[in-house]
Amino acid sequence: MQIQLLQFICATLFAFSNAEVFFKEQFLDGDAWRSRWVNSEHKSDYGEFKLTAGSFYGDAEKDKGLQTSQDARFYAASARFEPFSNEGKPLVIQFTVKHEQKIDCGGGYVKVFPADLEQTQMHGESQYYVMFGPDICGYSTKKVHVIFNYKGKNHLIKKEIKCKDDELTHLYTLILNSDQTYEVKIDNEQVESGSLEEDWDFLPAKKIKDPEAKKPEDWDDRAKIDDETDSKPEDWDQPENIPDPDAKKPEDWDEEMDGEWEPAVIPNPDYKGEWKPKQIENPNYKGTWVHPEIDNPEYSPDAQIYKFDNIGVIGLDLWQVKSGTIFDNFLITDDVKEAEEFGNETWGATKAPEKKMKEEQEEAKRKEDEEKNKEQNTEADDEEGEGDDEDDDEEEEDAPEEDADDDEALPKDEL
Ligand SMILES: *[C@@H]1O[C@H](CO)[C@@H](O)[C@H](O)[C@H]1NC(C)=O
Repeated sequence: MQIQLLQFICATLFAFSNAEVFFKEQFLDGDAWRSRWVNSEHKSDYGEFKLTAGSFYGDAEKDKGLQTSQDARFYAASARFEPFSNEGKPLVIQFTVKHEQKIDCGGGYVKVFPADLEQTQMHGESQYYVMFGPDICGYSTKKVHVIFNYKGKNHLIKKEIKCKDDELTHLYTLILNSDQTYEVKIDNEQVESGSLEEDWDFLPAKKIKDPEAKKPEDWDDRAKIDDETDSKPEDWDQPENIPDPDAKKPEDWDEEMDGEWEPAVIPNPDYKGEWKPKQIENPNYKGTWVHPEIDNPEYSPDAQIYKFDNIGVIGLDLWQVKSGTIFDNFLITDDVKEAEEFGNETWGATKAPEKKMKEEQEEAKRKEDEEKNKEQNTEADDEEGEGDDEDDDEEEEDAPEEDADDDEALPKDEL
């Protein structure tokens, strides 16, 4: 009886929890995405997105997403949804990214825009509300951007969040709460969290150094001083170098021809260097002077930094050198749980079979190369047949610590 009551209460709570999904895009209806996504015409040579699950995947249909298909291009496409405000609610922005091309340099992020964005004119400088997701360039830039627009200015997060840089699909989630806290998750696990005020410079500093305050003239901040009673010993001053007492004028030295003979000079063992008085504690020492702080008159708190009134467009506006990135499973909602569940159903269901397929392809490739090598070696010389170390190394690199999760995720016969 009690259990039934509990179930009833839970069901009722759920019914009233009122989760809202503002945008969801899984690309499950073939070419129809073209009617939902608008290519920008701001430039004439934007790269083309194509719909594909890529060269390895967990599910040939469900894993289809938008893939960048041309190298060294800008990409600019966006999709519209019913405008909303995140006032008083969480804002969750989530999507999957797969850099199956071994990305060298390129964006893997989304931008969320005000509804008044003119989609055909979207470009790098178009004002957005939020920019979120991975960005990779060379070895030095491998980070997750979290940029919020506040009063017309873009503010970058002050923390460094590392992004994934392998070739598998990863789930990126940004949660922005109305209490001005945030959370970043990768693959449904929190990688960063904190508060807007602390982790971005939206507002001027709360405290500043008092401009009126000055270090008093007589402030003594010398911890040690010379001992006045100390004096230089009389025998202190000795020459730094002296003539070598062991030097002898060579027998055949000719003063007329060679000039006056002088012995070589050597360092003086009695030389003591510059004399300095002993140091003693300074009786007047006051410690280091600390500049007093006052409330910054420029600072005023803002409890609505998080709030965006007219969210209406999500866009992929990025540059890629080596193309091949696949974006999929976009979700914008006010429900954290819903997003996690959606992440589980999409990325969570895909990751194990995707990895398996990739590994099988690599294994097949390795075998093929091995065969080729063998043939070549038999033709040439049997002695030199050890040329396949490279592939072995690669395989080790590609095996992350996710094996534990993979086993439980899906039955082995899923492929
Ligand atoms: C998502 O999957 C993880 C791992 O299997 C699980 O712990 C979590 O409860 C799931 N979340 C939801 C909302 O279903």
